[in-house]
Amino acid sequence: MKNNQSHRKKSSMPFRVNRKSIFGIISLVVQELIDKLLTETKIKKPKEIEVLNNVRKYAIQGQPESVLKIIDNYAYKKTFLMNIGKEKGLLLENEIKNTKAERVLELGVYLGYSSIRILNNLTDRAHLVSIESNNKFAEIAQEHIRISGLSERHSLKIGKSSDVIPTFNEQFDFIFIDHWKDLYLKDLQILESCNLLKKGASIFADNVILFDLEDYLNYVRSSPNFSSKFIPALREYSKSHPDGVEISKFK
Ligand SMILES: C[S@@+](CC[C@H](N)C(=O)[O-])C[C@H]1O[C@@H](n2cnc3c(N)ncnc32)[C@H](O)[C@@H]1O
Repeated sequence: MKNNQSHRKKSSMPFRVNRKSIFGIISLVVQELIDKLLTETKIKKPKEIEVLNNVRKYAIQGQPESVLKIIDNYAYKKTFLMNIGKEKGLLLENEIKNTKAERVLELGVYLGYSSIRILNNLTDRAHLVSIESNNKFAEIAQEHIRISGLSERHSLKIGKSSDVIPTFNEQFDFIFIDHWKDLYLKDLQILESCNLLKKGASIFADNVILFDLEDYLNYVRSSPNFSSKFIPALREYSKSHPDGVEISKFK
């Protein structure tokens, strides 16, 4: 069997749990359930709306750091938000700065937190294209990015990554992969088969330890088309749960 094919039965969930991170996952699921219950019983608004309201109220227009700080504070003090977070966010910023990437693609936007970190570190001629399948998240992200003063070099495509990617006709030199975990490998292979990866492109994948991304990791680590390295880090907004990012260079 080729190394880019899965040996396992396909899960009906958008992720498989990595047994090493079981406590990290349980803690997230419990927080999600509590928030869902409070939202459905109308005790509180959906957390994403609460974050947007905080940003509208307290952020300083044109200051991306003020927007990131408000989003981080909510995730630390209230409930979990699936942003890349501070520690891994800084790794992402460093990679964007070091590679001087000019055509950047982001898969999975949520509240626009990682988009803001990317946009704030782009060189003058660079552009970010983001894909998000959830309309409501896309709207919130666009407002966060607008308040940050970073909309000019950003395009947001609403739709499923596997539908949107084949519509591109220019290559990318940086891909940030952070959407549903069972799509990482499939979408990387779509990017390859559509010839959308520039020689030397960086592919930065989040949450490779928190979730079971063995298929993706096996592929980028054994394919002759990539050289790949792992950077350990903690899961976003956690002081103990292990996670990490995989940075792969397209040869
Ligand atoms: C982990 S969150 C993204 C977090 C964001 N990158 C950050 O760090 O701020 C994952 C997002 O991917 C979106 N998503 C899931 N599957 C998708 C797909 N096939 N195409 C586009 N977006 C998708 C979800 O709606 C969700 O908003």
